[in-house]
Amino acid sequence: MKFSIKNENPGKQRSDCVVVGIFETRVLTKAAKTLDKNANGYISGILNNGDMEGKAGSTLLLHNVPNTICRRVLLVGLGKKSELRDREYRNVVQAAFKAIHKTGASDVILFLTEDPVKNREITWKISHTVIMAMESVYRSDQLKSKHEDDKRHLRKIALSMTSRADSAVCEKALQWGIATAHGMNLTKDLGNLPPNVCTPTYLAELAKNMAKTYKLKATVLEQKDMEKLGMGSLLSVARGSSQPAKLIILEYWGRNKKEKPFVLVGKGVTFDTGGISLKPAAEMDEMKYDMCGAASVFGTITAIVQMRLPINVVGIIPATENMPGGNATKPGDIVTSMSGQTIEILNTDAEGRLILCDALTYAERYEPEVVIDIATLTGACVIALGHIASGLLSNDEELAMELLKASEQAADRAWRLPLWDDYQEQLRSNFADMANIGGRAAGTITASCFLSRFTKKYRWAHLDIAGTAWESGKKKGATGRPVPLLTQFLTTRAAKKGPIIKT
Ligand code: BES
Ligand code: MN
Ligand code: ZN
Repeated sequence: MKFSIKNENPGKQRSDCVVVGIFETRVLTKAAKTLDKNANGYISGILNNGDMEGKAGSTLLLHNVPNTICRRVLLVGLGKKSELRDREYRNVVQAAFKAIHKTGASDVILFLTEDPVKNREITWKISHTVIMAMESVYRSDQLKSKHEDDKRHLRKIALSMTSRADSAVCEKALQWGIATAHGMNLTKDLGNLPPNVCTPTYLAELAKNMAKTYKLKATVLEQKDMEKLGMGSLLSVARGSSQPAKLIILEYWGRNKKEKPFVLVGKGVTFDTGGISLKPAAEMDEMKYDMCGAASVFGTITAIVQMRLPINVVGIIPATENMPGGNATKPGDIVTSMSGQTIEILNTDAEGRLILCDALTYAERYEPEVVIDIATLTGACVIALGHIASGLLSNDEELAMELLKASEQAADRAWRLPLWDDYQEQLRSNFADMANIGGRAAGTITASCFLSRFTKKYRWAHLDIAGTAWESGKKKGATGRPVPLLTQFLTTRAAKKGPIIKT
């Protein structure tokens, strides 16, 4: 898909389809007005006939509009002008692409980016239009022997404005959208891969390949390396599986190495059966998505590398299967984590925290600026926040606020839950330093309390993406979240840092 920004009259554009907005009720946007004028009132005539009101997300496809050199004109309803906010804008753009894909158009010109969205600049609209466009063509059918028959000829998208805007800034916004969408696509691809393909070894190979492509540094710790480091907690999860566990480290040094890196830790359980605390059969296939935290780390690193963001980022991915085997960890087993703290494993299905805790201890050696872990950690988070917001928990007020702000900007919602010490006692064990479960109440919080015992040496935030990393049902598939949130957070931090210090 090719994107560009143009600055021309909508009537003078040679293309398969020109897309202009209509506000409710039958109010022409600037671009629609220009077209209408060229066409001697043809469009307003159609509206006045009652064919379109301008309701948000409605569309009307026109052919042979007089005095235009484009094949088609797509009118897109924007709803009431005063109600056009980010969410509505994104829905409208989504509807526009849906309508475009029903036609045979391969190149389109969109005039939607200059319509006023509350509290959002043109750059935001550009970035998000690009992301929506890429989302609209995404599919995961590599493993189907016949590709599904549909049109989707779309190859070229021009974002056009009738008024002049700062072109360098707009171009940057375009690149941001493209890079973020590429990152999301990788995250989706990895999530959607079947668990017999996407194993810990597969993820380790991917890291090595990314390192080659983008000149990054990849390190893969094998089981014996992890044994030496004392990662008894991580290794306990892998015991039931015939696939060897890996600890994957991917480093991007976009600035002076002396500057502290941002560390992203992603849960990489490539399949979660629950282990001996076996999960029920219904929808167990969806536990292939239990590596979406890891996938979002690969995706975010892809995005920031493609932008060459001046920032240091280290991705750490503990990768393993959680299987019930003859050697598997049993409820009641006690293991020693890399930090030295002992853990009584009362439920082998609470495995995410067991692999994350050792990865979080490993993160200490980077003397990180901040550490963010991303994990499909608890079913309780889906109950609390549904599929709309990711759960956010942090031991640092400022970091939590920054992430919430980034999530709003990126239209990738997150909502904070408390991490008060009052919850810690739910993790008490009679036989070890802690248990790995805290009972049914406040499951997302007690999971984070567990992690917080391993993150005392740095500023840390945890994103529980159990409800947001993939969709179930007919639209089953990975969402690419929270790549936009993380990319936005890192972009904002990189901008704050100022120029690169040369060594
Ligand atoms: N990967 C799951 C969490 C999950 C469940 C994500 C459903 C998305 C949908 C995690 O490893 C898990 O099994 N968590 C348990 C923890 C419990 C045993 C304390 C859960 O949430 O039930
Ligand atoms: Mn589990
Ligand atoms: Zn899991």
